[in-house]
Amino acid sequence: MAYNLNEKKVLVVGGSSGIGLATAELAVAQGAIVMIASRDEGRLKQAATHLSGRVSVRVVDTLNNDSVVSMFNEAGIFDHIIVSASSTKTGSVRNLTLEDAYASMDSKFWGAYRIAKAARLNANGSLTLVSGFLSQRPNPAAPLQGAINAAVEGLVRGLALEFAPVRVNAVSPGLIDTPLLSRMSSEQRRAMFDNAKEKLPVQRVGASEDIAQAILFVATNPYATGSVVTVDGGATIGSINILGQSLPIPKATS
Ligand SMILES: NC(=O)c1ccc[n+]([C@@H]2O[C@H](COP(=O)([O-])OP(=O)(O)OC[C@H]3O[C@@H](n4cnc5c(N)ncnc54)[C@H](OP(=O)(O)O)[C@@H]3O)[C@@H](O)[C@H]2O)c1
Repeated sequence: MAYNLNEKKVLVVGGSSGIGLATAELAVAQGAIVMIASRDEGRLKQAATHLSGRVSVRVVDTLNNDSVVSMFNEAGIFDHIIVSASSTKTGSVRNLTLEDAYASMDSKFWGAYRIAKAARLNANGSLTLVSGFLSQRPNPAAPLQGAINAAVEGLVRGLALEFAPVRVNAVSPGLIDTPLLSRMSSEQRRAMFDNAKEKLPVQRVGASEDIAQAILFVATNPYATGSVVTVDGGATIGSINILGQSLPIPKATS
């Protein structure tokens, strides 16, 4: 049984930034041959310069099924695929426009679905999706985020049966300091982080590496399938909602 990634072919969709980039970095360090994929070629190339090892880049837009299909037609079969790509907009149901809500579901849920549908994986390989703790710990300022994450987790459980023996899992992060949050003003971010540090059992905000390690754990553990691994610093079990009543994440620009 291979618990390691040595010489394994790994695709990280969303590998140009944040959790995906940290996962790619860890996979490379473990001897994997890694392809990072996202929409922006410049961002991908810049990310690749940080990764010393066997790394290639691939432009793909998970909103576009043709783009996804042609990536797999050209790249062939992978041992492990990780999907951390998404671009969603946050807001209460009353405040978020339906267009923004549909676009968010299209990006995070349907984007992962398109990858799963087109993915070419070795029988002893794995697919790992990234959900989020709001699936279990709803926030009044982001009900849609919770629903999207719950949909991702539901998809994982069904796919684990459909794709068997290929294993399919999800990792559900809590609050993680990534470029995703750079859309907030520095004051907003500091206030949210201070609040989280004070209220989380681990007394700190998460780092991308915390999630990357969990992703590679489920990817390489041959007995893990249909699992949703929560790595949230205790946010789900905490008695206080760490994001507060009014989630200070402004609407995304893209
Ligand atoms: N950070 C947190 O606190 C947190 C908490 C819970 C869950 N999550 C989830 O974790 C995942 C990763 O988040 P992150 O914080 O690492 O975000 P991030 O730093 O913003 O990275 C998102 C990645 O997705 C890519 N991407 C976005 N839309 C895409 C598309 N249509 N096609 C292909 N690639 C696309 C981006 O690259 P391009 O712009 O180049 O396309 C980027 O590489 C997301 O699903 C997020 O919802 C994050």
